Amino acid sequence: MSLNPRLRDWQGRHVWLIGAGHGIGAALARQLRAAGAVLALSGRSEDALREVAGDDAGCMVLPLDVTREQDWQQACGQLLQRWPRIDLVVMLAGDYRAVRAWQLTPQLARQMVDVNLLGVMYGTAAVVPTLLAQQQGSIVLVASVAGWAGMPNGLVYGATKAAVNHFAQTLYLDLRPRGIGVHVVNPGFVATRLTAQNDFAMPALISAEQAASAVLGGLARGDFDIHFPRRFSLALKLAAHLPYRLYFWLAHKVTGL
Ligand SMILES: NC(=O)c1ccc[n+]([C@@H]2O[C@H](COP(=O)([O-])OP(=O)(O)OC[C@H]3O[C@@H](n4cnc5c(N)ncnc54)[C@H](OP(=O)(O)O)[C@@H]3O)[C@@H](O)[C@H]2O)c1
Repeated sequence: MSLNPRLRDWQGRHVWLIGAGHGIGAALARQLRAAGAVLALSGRSEDALREVAGDDAGCMVLPLDVTREQDWQQACGQLLQRWPRIDLVVMLAGDYRAVRAWQLTPQLARQMVDVNLLGVMYGTAAVVPTLLAQQQGSIVLVASVAGWAGMPNGLVYGATKAAVNHFAQTLYLDLRPRGIGVHVVNPGFVATRLTAQNDFAMPALISAEQAASAVLGGLARGDFDIHFPRRFSLALKLAAHLPYRLYFWLAHKVTGL
């Protein structure tokens, strides 16, 4: 039995994508629109959101910065003035900077924690009352396989994504018995501007369109943990459960760092 309602029919479904101006979010917007969903798109750059919205007259563009609590309240208010309900909220906004121990600064730490973790928590706080009042709807938090185990370069990023996985588990326990679906997405390497800074060959790299399809596949199955590409994420899941002595050796060996 699936852990969440299976989301398959998007016709007329109201979907709010946060972090929709680029990368995986933009690809998800394109695929959901093609499947008949009614979209609201958020992110900081209004120009980028308008480009993704294109000539879709029914699509709402709601610029917001996920790190600003008041932006969430404002956007949610605007949304609910126009929409009868929210069927799905997907939180994709994320920031990644490669950080090794000797490069750590309070500013880098704050930057990624603010967007990747507090942004998700602020967004959840903003939408959960509406989902509970509706007694239906689903929420998707985008984390990363980098949150499953410590990896060189992921000093802050990995910690924020581990926390998002943890947050999603607890959210599931609270919300699923009340009729709300909760999913966490753990992608491997996806070719977007986020990973464009990587100066190494990324294993099992996929496109943003492939990532968006994998997210929709996971939602259609009602998965809680939607991870991909499987050839990479399953190996990593296994590695994360190895004894530390073996895992640390493997992490050095595989990354060369
Ligand atoms: N690419 C990968 O390999 C990979 C792997 C694992 C997990 N992920 C996760 O997948 C999600 C999407 O990443 P992506 O690869 O598609 O990256 P991306 O192309 O850089 O997209 C990130 C999106 O987040 C928005 N954003 C960033 N900071 C924001 C803020 N403070 N407020 C509102 N929106 C903000 C950006 O738009 P604006 O700049 O206009 O605000 C952009 O639309 C992220 O959570 C990322 O951590 C990615």
